[in-house]
Amino acid sequence: MINLKERILNKHIQVAVIGMGYVGLPLSVALAKSDYKVLGIDCNDSWTKQINAGHSNIGDVPSEVLKKIVDKGYIKASTDYALVAKVDVIIICVPTPLNHFKEPDLSYIINTIEGILPFIRKGIFISLESTTYPGTTEELIVQRIQKEKGWKVGEDFYVCYSPERVDPGNPIYSIGNTPKVVGGSTRVCLELGEALYGSFLPKVVGVKTTQVAEMSKVLENTFRCVNIALVNEMAMMCERMNIDIWEAIKGASSKPFGFMPFYPGPGVGGHCIPLDPLYLSWKAKKYNYFSRFIELAIDINNNMPYYVAYQIAQILGNYGKGMKDSRILLMGMSYKKDVSDIRESPSLEVYAILKRQGAKVDFYDPYVESFKFKEEIIYRIEWSEKSVESYDIISILTNHTNVDYKWLLEHAEIIYDTKNVYGEVESDKVVKLGDNLEYL
Ligand SMILES: NC(=O)c1ccc[n+]([C@@H]2O[C@H](COP(=O)([O-])OP(=O)(O)OC[C@H]3O[C@@H](n4cnc5c(N)ncnc54)[C@H](O)[C@@H]3O)[C@@H](O)[C@H]2O)c1
Repeated sequence: MINLKERILNKHIQVAVIGMGYVGLPLSVALAKSDYKVLGIDCNDSWTKQINAGHSNIGDVPSEVLKKIVDKGYIKASTDYALVAKVDVIIICVPTPLNHFKEPDLSYIINTIEGILPFIRKGIFISLESTTYPGTTEELIVQRIQKEKGWKVGEDFYVCYSPERVDPGNPIYSIGNTPKVVGGSTRVCLELGEALYGSFLPKVVGVKTTQVAEMSKVLENTFRCVNIALVNEMAMMCERMNIDIWEAIKGASSKPFGFMPFYPGPGVGGHCIPLDPLYLSWKAKKYNYFSRFIELAIDINNNMPYYVAYQIAQILGNYGKGMKDSRILLMGMSYKKDVSDIRESPSLEVYAILKRQGAKVDFYDPYVESFKFKEEIIYRIEWSEKSVESYDIISILTNHTNVDYKWLLEHAEIIYDTKNVYGEVESDKVVKLGDNLEYL
């Protein structure tokens, strides 16, 4: 261990990152910028070829940056697990989705461990970064390796859990200036984890066990999920009470302590907030603990696309139109602003609901060219005065910054704004999520 720690501190180690997606690629770039030679392993052959050619499709890693690093030989991608035989450290960043029954699908982590098992050598240090429920690192990594190899953790191999906090599209916080939590399977493992992450990141927060580190990650995302659900409920309550939720949040946000603003919207999306709390509640059930907070929050957030559809129907009704055959433009398909990621995006759900109700629905998103709906590929509309003017209603579902909302308002018939992009703008043409339509 002393030898490995010294080599980490001297950066005389080879690191493999497994899963080169939204998390793995920025992490590899951060390691490379700190003089580590990174072997990026990904099961997607065409993606590894793209990486080796310096082409990135991940917003936080511009191709120019990746190309320079690849050309200098600091990142090399491959699909070949056998190459981990040469590395000292393996960081795992593979997906942790839900299955059709909304239960954790850990097959990607399991496949990764099975993939590396024949090749790892004594002394290997493994860190899991994928988001998951408390207990995963011990159950799927430590116990599996101990069983297969007969090695002892903390002596023959070392294991940590260190959750990734990357926030794609965030211009202020990136991996380079966000503290990193790390928990070790043993005290020695934690020491190594702190040495590794401390060697290329500004601040490392060590916690006693891998379970604590796993819980800290799902706590962060459950906190967001529950607070978003609370404010979504407040928005629906405010509609009944004819109170402007957006102004109420503005008022409450002026309190310098004890309040943190969250905003209502068409639901939650992405790879984290809709999924991670369900990892926790699933595991808690094994301990005969039912997390009513989590289930309630997921329920409220999942119903928001239906609430959006209900408000759109009401607005159309106020103009003497029905949902059937009305022309509706959805503005923003990605799950949050300034990114192209549409995974779990509530906009997709809003699209499906409105289609089912007989509306003619199109979309525009500066970052998303198309998406698949059933067996059909749906392409974004051409962004022009003529096309924008042809819709009965335009609903803003994602508040991308590079959209000219003033221009849009000039040319739209009516706008349903679920993101408060129009803020204080007073216009009869703008209805906001949570507005009481009886009073319009
Ligand atoms: N995207 C985020 O904002 C974010 C933030 C924090 C944490 N996370 C967590 O990080 C993990 C990874 O998420 P992501 O968004 O980077 O996923 P992603 O889908 O963008 O990337 C995962 C990559 O892993 C590859 N892969 C899948 N199985 C593999 C295997 N067996 N071997 C090698 N490669 C494999 C895929 O081809 C893909 O390129 C998840 O657990 C997620 O919850 C994501």
